[in-house]
Amino acid sequence: MPTITVATQPSYEIAITPGGLTQLGAAMVSAGLGTKSRRTLVISNPQIWHFYGDRTLKSLTAAGFEPEYLLLPAGERYKNASSLQKIYDAALHHQLERSSAMIALGGGVIGDMAGFGAATWLRGLPIVQVPTSLLAMVDSAIGGKTGINHPQGKNLIGAFHQPRLVWMDPEVLQTLPPREFRTAMAEVIKYGVIWDVALFGLLESLPRLDGMRYLAPDALLEILTRCAQAKAQVVAQDEKEGGLRAILNYGHTIGHGIEAVTHYRRYTHGEAVALGMVAAGRSPKPWDFGPPRSAIAKTP
Ligand SMILES: NC(=O)c1ccc[n+]([C@@H]2O[C@H](COP(=O)([O-])OP(=O)(O)OC[C@H]3O[C@@H](n4cnc5c(N)ncnc54)[C@H](O)[C@@H]3O)[C@@H](O)[C@H]2O)c1
Ligand SMILES: [Zn+2]
Repeated sequence: MPTITVATQPSYEIAITPGGLTQLGAAMVSAGLGTKSRRTLVISNPQIWHFYGDRTLKSLTAAGFEPEYLLLPAGERYKNASSLQKIYDAALHHQLERSSAMIALGGGVIGDMAGFGAATWLRGLPIVQVPTSLLAMVDSAIGGKTGINHPQGKNLIGAFHQPRLVWMDPEVLQTLPPREFRTAMAEVIKYGVIWDVALFGLLESLPRLDGMRYLAPDALLEILTRCAQAKAQVVAQDEKEGGLRAILNYGHTIGHGIEAVTHYRRYTHGEAVALGMVAAGRSPKPWDFGPPRSAIAKTP
């Protein structure tokens, strides 16, 4: 199954394994976790826990971990300081040590919050990202950006904290609500435009992209792999967004504007980014102009 190395310091692996949730514990042991402290804290939400909680706990216990878990309310509006406080309270209550891992089992909201909790509790303990949404798999679980929202703005509080392992099981996407799948596809198309022309070709060749059920398992696997490779390559070259990493924001300037003027209610993030990419693609760039019109008019 595809494994991609993210060449940060230290480096880490992204593994994409259909049905692999049951092997999470073993994969963590292979990544060097659990040697000093066996205690782990899984952070998730009730929607995801309902489907995948048992499997996750069993897998961790089977590999010798002592898992505890914390469920935070679902939704972007709970990506805030009060949820973060709950993470700290659970870490204290369960006596996590600096070598105890936190595990984010969820979409980007859980991944960002758990990642930030792990970055800051005891000045940093390991985080394992187990993305369950398409957006988290192709984007947020990779690259180490973590954080929460401030009442005045999104993602204003945060830290860079690279995961020790990103463990993806594409089969969990079967329970993802269809709109969440579609919206993340905009970010997939983005990688095709900014980085990977072969991915763009693959996407064009597929009959439909707007639902998990329209994609053959091998096509989905290739999409996930290519997106993870793209993000890993960008992040390895520019971990803290000094320059190149900003390429990942293609379509986002106008997209964020659309989200803001519609009060984050009408469009999902991916829908707004899709509109933003169309608009950015149409807007004239200096290199599109060719000779000035006046010069053309004067040419005999
Ligand atoms: N850190 C980064 O680099 C980065 C990059 C992009 C986005 N983000 C952040 O990611 C967040 C958005 O992430 P998202 O789109 O995953 O949203 P999300 O985490 O809110 O998940 C979307 C919904 O799907 C549900 N869900 C997730 N997986 C499921 C599954 N397998 N089965 C059933 N339900 C499931 C969730 O409970 C939630 O209701 C935003 O907060 C954004 O700021 C971070
Ligand atoms: Zn985005």
